[in-house]
Amino acid sequence: MDTHSWPGENLNSTFPADFAWGVATSAHQVEGENFNNQWHAWERNGRIKSRDSVGLACDWWKNAEQDFDLAKSLGINALRLSVEWSRIEPSPGQWDHAALARYRDILKALRDRGIRPFVTLHHFTNPLWFESKGGFAAAESVAVFQRFTRRVLAALGDLCSDWTTFNEPNVYSALGYFLGEFPPGERGSFLKAARVTENLCRAHAAAYRTIHALQANANVGWAQHFVVFKPTRPESAIDRWISAFIDRRFNNNFAETIETGRSPFPLNHFRRHLDEVKDTCDYIGINYYSRLRAGFAPRSPKTLFFQLTVPSHKPQGDHGVEIPYGEAYPDGLRRAVERFKSFKKPIYILENGVPDRNDRIRPWLLESTVEQLRGLLAEGTDLRGYFHWTLTDNFEWNEGWHLRFGLIELDTKTQERKMRPSAQLYSQLIHRFSRNRTH
Ligand code: BGC
Repeated sequence: MDTHSWPGENLNSTFPADFAWGVATSAHQVEGENFNNQWHAWERNGRIKSRDSVGLACDWWKNAEQDFDLAKSLGINALRLSVEWSRIEPSPGQWDHAALARYRDILKALRDRGIRPFVTLHHFTNPLWFESKGGFAAAESVAVFQRFTRRVLAALGDLCSDWTTFNEPNVYSALGYFLGEFPPGERGSFLKAARVTENLCRAHAAAYRTIHALQANANVGWAQHFVVFKPTRPESAIDRWISAFIDRRFNNNFAETIETGRSPFPLNHFRRHLDEVKDTCDYIGINYYSRLRAGFAPRSPKTLFFQLTVPSHKPQGDHGVEIPYGEAYPDGLRRAVERFKSFKKPIYILENGVPDRNDRIRPWLLESTVEQLRGLLAEGTDLRGYFHWTLTDNFEWNEGWHLRFGLIELDTKTQERKMRPSAQLYSQLIHRFSRNRTH
């Protein structure tokens, strides 16, 4: 890689030598043939808007190694993946040793390539047996998830020390119980969404303690999704109120409880104190993608009288099957980082990317985002890593194969891969800013 063609001096002094230059993935989206979770049932019930099916996905269950080779060739030194609970514990208390052995192989394959694994315990999917007992709305969910955590640590703890308990608890509860976009597809179930969030907080705290009890050097956090909200009509008081309300409810949901041990309204109606969850993270994990305009929509009871939009002149990637994905707004990363600074913990950007099949704006997004990281580091922010979503096109939940986030393009029929220009660009950025490279 020719790093000498880049202008500027001392560029690489901004990024710490052990900065994680990563990519992020999740089990259901890449492994293929996960038939025992609620997302498979959702697909079978015709709920994927694009009508696609996961199929083999990126075929990682059989051959994650081919993508690890590509990641290595790009200079990527960290990779975030999740373990699929329904494979490991196919029925309550029954453990699949072959599945755990496969995860051991996967983690070893990463380490053999000099890639640091970051493992997420829960990335949206639940085993069917767990979902049928009420999922995280059920009080027992906390203990059941703790049992799973213990098992994963026992099996994989010697191969990984960077753990993410839950991916985006705020997205899981908002889309599953409030907007009906994710399973179980409930709309407007405020109280249930609140109960789910409370149980997720408690399950996170229990997992945090369980991991630390089993591993002295563990680095544990969760991944917080952050959206920049702006009033659709800044001159409208009601739009301003809606935007601020959604911002606080969505972006601070979960994080606020972990920080203070108290639940914000309306969760505080259930339990005044959640002292046991306070200060249960070693880092702040941020997933940041976009900005949305929020405004009052009196004729939209279906979306609970508010509407999220993107002005057409703003940069955006590809449009979802029904709704826009969001404005690509790299400057917003700073807002996310500032929001969680009060924790005084190291920060990892655990996801960031754009759906962009033809790689129209991804190169711009990547460069602008790395510029943001540089600025934040130069000001003294304790940023430890950046994970681009994602390495190879994967199954985008309700949008199926319609939205493509990969640095690498995937032909789902042949499993052929083709680097997008952004893959080369990311590789160049990594080489340009990595301190521990000699050339
Ligand atoms: C999720 C990923 C998803 C990505 C792109 C994140 O909210 O964690 O699973 O694929 O966004 O939409």
